Amino acid sequence: MYFDFYNGGAEDQYTLKENVEAFHRITFRPRILVDVSRISMSTTILGHRISAPIMIAPTSFHKLAHPEGEIATARAAASCNTIMALSFSSTCTVEEVASSCNAVRFFQIYVYKRRDVTSMLVQRAERNGFKAMILTVDTPRIGRREADIKNRMISPHLKNFEGLLSTEVASDKGSNLEAFAAEVLDRSICWKDIEWLRSITSLPILIKGVLTHEDAIKAMEVGVAGIVVSNHGARQLDYSPATITVLEEVVHAVGGKIPVLIDGGVRRGTDIFKALALGAQAVMIGRPILYGLAAKGECGVRRVIEMLKDELELTMALSGCPTLKDITRSHVRTDQDRFNC
Ligand code: FNR
Repeated sequence: MYFDFYNGGAEDQYTLKENVEAFHRITFRPRILVDVSRISMSTTILGHRISAPIMIAPTSFHKLAHPEGEIATARAAASCNTIMALSFSSTCTVEEVASSCNAVRFFQIYVYKRRDVTSMLVQRAERNGFKAMILTVDTPRIGRREADIKNRMISPHLKNFEGLLSTEVASDKGSNLEAFAAEVLDRSICWKDIEWLRSITSLPILIKGVLTHEDAIKAMEVGVAGIVVSNHGARQLDYSPATITVLEEVVHAVGGKIPVLIDGGVRRGTDIFKALALGAQAVMIGRPILYGLAAKGECGVRRVIEMLKDELELTMALSGCPTLKDITRSHVRTDQDRFNC
């Protein structure tokens, strides 16, 4: 049941497959005879230096993968010198994660009908040294994940909400996640609520779930500090485009004014290189982190990040790009390029 929850996507899982396959359709235009005796992958995200453009995406319920839950993931992020985004639906509290390591941490937010619950958690995260807020905007309702419905998936205990609300919502239709989401998520949130969010935190706000240039422009108009091109790992609206296919559209709209991150289907260093070539400042990794966590806790997560870093380094060397700045649009060929030829 837990594997299905981690692995699955919405409905036909078209987007789930596409997120990965769209990367496969992009090929390289490697350059030769460049000195690649030294490769540097280090970059900064909102002023925080990290060892490589690889961050940990916010994913819920880490204790379903490993008893140490988000604490193990955060420790791995710290030892790899990268940023972890902690999910609003974490199984360890913000305080436990904050006191377990010194990783740079961002906090992902859902807006609940009980605004006081969202605002209390935002303030707790801010007090505990989280450095940015990531507002996930693709989830006014939970996507139809049929494996979870069939398995009658239930939410684990969410310690962050102790004394605030109960996660034990009964459902006679299958997954209790759906019933819980229906009860708590504020379906009415819209652009003006960014202003509300800004009134309860002084931290930079990133918006996660942008897939069009229209929304990228709106996000900039309301003053967000960054954008995450994401379709929630294909768990929300099936037949959303693969994220890598819309990255460039968003990057062009943003015009370098704020950082653009991407997640969805990133499984190899070559995928990371492709995302950077199309204008992302970094990628976020979802499921592979959960699988590393399930396999070997903190060590497993570290190993996943190290594998991705090793692969990115090799890809940079073989493409003639000793630094991230050397990776340009001309290093890749997309479906669109072939069509235009
Ligand atoms: C997610 N994702 C997610 N996003 C978010 O903003 N808040 C959350 O609590 C969760 N929870 C969650 C659970 C699980 C099991 C998965 C797989 C994903 C989405 C996540 O942040 C990210 O967008 C995707 O996981 C990226 O796609 P890949 O790397 O899993 O293909």
